[in-house]
Amino acid sequence: MVHVKARMERPDIYPLRAAVSDEQVPWSTAFADYKPPYFVADSVLEQDETKTKGGWADPEDVRLVTRNFESFSGRIALDAAGRPMNVRGRTGIAGRGLLGRWGPNFAADALVFKCDVKGGVQCLLIKRGDSGQWAFPGGMVDRDETADDAMTRELMEETGVQLDLSRAVTVYRGYCDDRRNTDNAWMETTAKALLLDDAKADLVRPKVTEEAVEIAWKTLVEMTETGMYGSHLAILEKACALL
Ligand code: BGC
Repeated sequence: MVHVKARMERPDIYPLRAAVSDEQVPWSTAFADYKPPYFVADSVLEQDETKTKGGWADPEDVRLVTRNFESFSGRIALDAAGRPMNVRGRTGIAGRGLLGRWGPNFAADALVFKCDVKGGVQCLLIKRGDSGQWAFPGGMVDRDETADDAMTRELMEETGVQLDLSRAVTVYRGYCDDRRNTDNAWMETTAKALLLDDAKADLVRPKVTEEAVEIAWKTLVEMTETGMYGSHLAILEKACALL
């Protein structure tokens, strides 16, 4: 499936994306006039881990990156400058934008479900401060952290809910159609889902934190209607099929 948000949306500080039609997304399609603007945010440059202690970003010179670029989607091609090429294809912007890592930037998401009184299912969601969209609690996997640890930490930080997600069901691992993606840096996530029984659900008391504008239990219909951040609606569909 061709990415859409990664071509049609962008954070306010990004330059306009060069137009890329559905047909022009694959790198294998010739596109001689393709000249995407290059953009990397100052906030990323300031976090260069080779210059700033505790920084979360790669150096701007991609040749200084020593790790292998690895994606859940398989092999990553490099362009003539040695920059990883988005595994889903063109996005209309080169560089890293707001993302710290060249190539895949890994996140983890926690899908926490409970049954409501009408026999339906509800999911714990947060409203994101950056885009104002509803999303699963989640965030970036820090250095030396596992995806399980990251989703457990993010769930706690964003909703105040402490749950062991190590035995939750993995519903998705892969590319995310994220508005921050560029030709050379993109989001991939691991999403796990947990269905709480009634007794456990009664004990879970989410509270608004500094990390989320709002928190709510939403029905599946509400989630479909609200749109949801990034690939979260597609991830929800996978979770529903699996659970
Ligand atoms: C969010 C995740 C999301 C990922 C990819 C992260 O910043 O916290 O919820 O899955 O980006 O879109």
